[in-house]
Amino acid sequence: MQSFTYQCPTKIIFGRGAEDKVAEELRAFGAKSILLVYGGASAKKSGLLPKIERQLTENGIMFQVIGGVKPNPRLSLVREGVRTAISAHSDFILAIGGGSVIDTAKAIAHGAANPDTDVWDFWTGRKPLTKSMPIGSVLTLSAAGSETSDSAVITDEENQRKLGLNTPFNRPALAFMNPELTYTVPKKQLTAGACDILMHTLERYFTSVKATNLLTDRVAESLIKTVMESLAVAVKNQQDYDAMSEIMWAGSVSHTNFTELGRMKDFSCHKLGHELSAMFDSTHGETLTAVWPSWAKYVYQDDPARFAHFAKAVFGLTGGSDKELAEKGIAALTDFFRSVDMPVNIPELLGRPLTESEIETLADRGTAGDTKKLGNFHPLGKKEAMDIYTLANS
Ligand code: NZQ
Ligand code: ZN
Repeated sequence: MQSFTYQCPTKIIFGRGAEDKVAEELRAFGAKSILLVYGGASAKKSGLLPKIERQLTENGIMFQVIGGVKPNPRLSLVREGVRTAISAHSDFILAIGGGSVIDTAKAIAHGAANPDTDVWDFWTGRKPLTKSMPIGSVLTLSAAGSETSDSAVITDEENQRKLGLNTPFNRPALAFMNPELTYTVPKKQLTAGACDILMHTLERYFTSVKATNLLTDRVAESLIKTVMESLAVAVKNQQDYDAMSEIMWAGSVSHTNFTELGRMKDFSCHKLGHELSAMFDSTHGETLTAVWPSWAKYVYQDDPARFAHFAKAVFGLTGGSDKELAEKGIAALTDFFRSVDMPVNIPELLGRPLTESEIETLADRGTAGDTKKLGNFHPLGKKEAMDIYTLANS
């Protein structure tokens, strides 16, 4: 077995009514002044935000509120949140929403704990992050896995830069996860979210590590099958508690690094997708399914046996050479994406193909002017990134 280090400190309160325990858990944590962060309209419309506010008031816990987080969360709102958290002397940031709200809460925590540093410097790498403050979330959308992950992704909207930051300081202290809160998620976000969950495991399954940690592989394969089966049920009935629960829990497991133990991250599709989101404000999960089939076709010959293993373990495919099985497995996953109305190429994502100059700009930005490689299964420089965008362009 390959060696690994694993630490996921988030306390998870999962199940019906999980959000009713917010005040109790915050008090046990010692939090005294909370900054609540939410998105557009959904947390108000569902009554969740007023419910949490009432709970905090009844328990004598002080709080401030900042809303308006948009998908592909913006740096400008993070900066506003940092100012609010500092002036309110917040000691805990609680997100009420999906990945965008949670990532905003993480960024606010980092900024407020380091008032002398421009928070974006932590994302560009200009400054190392050495301290932050605790955060938690009441999750309303199963997708990004930010409720337990060590990652936060923020968009500098002025410069069309969408960057992720991985640090142990991003690990939330608390996650309240009630699958019923996801019943109202728009269908497009449900499917994009579930496909993002699949991709968090796939981007750890196809890596440069050849040796297998059997349990890691089997957890990954089981997670992928569970999400595909549950999504097929959930798209027909979004109030199916069991299906929505499986998707929600898979979202956390998929991005805690649990499906990475003894392996490593590749995440090149994520990087290619982030550039598309930064330029076109595209939905994260959709950017992933729009590039994955082309990425897979471009790289699978580096290790056809691994792709063949995937085809057998996940889709039960048999017969033929490794190369044939690998191709069948790629086609099967692409068909699954199609079956839940996800785009499987860039024209389906954007409604038009990319121009040559857009392809060059996306690849140039993603590889920092061809100075860094994306991923490790097949490290992508600017040329390879352009090849994959071109392949995905038809
Ligand atoms: O803003 P509101 O009104 O709340 O509406 C949101 C938003 O429009 C809506 N929504 C959320 N919960 C709802 C709901 N609508 C009705 N009922 C509910 N219960 O869904 C829309 C999308 O929300 P968003 O938070 O953007 O979605 P998601 O959770 O998919 O997060 C995407 C962001 O997370 C980043 C992505 O890049 C993207 O910016 N990621 C973060 C990661 C991390 N921190 O670990 C990892 C991921 O790979 C990903 O990159
Ligand atoms: Zn993702």
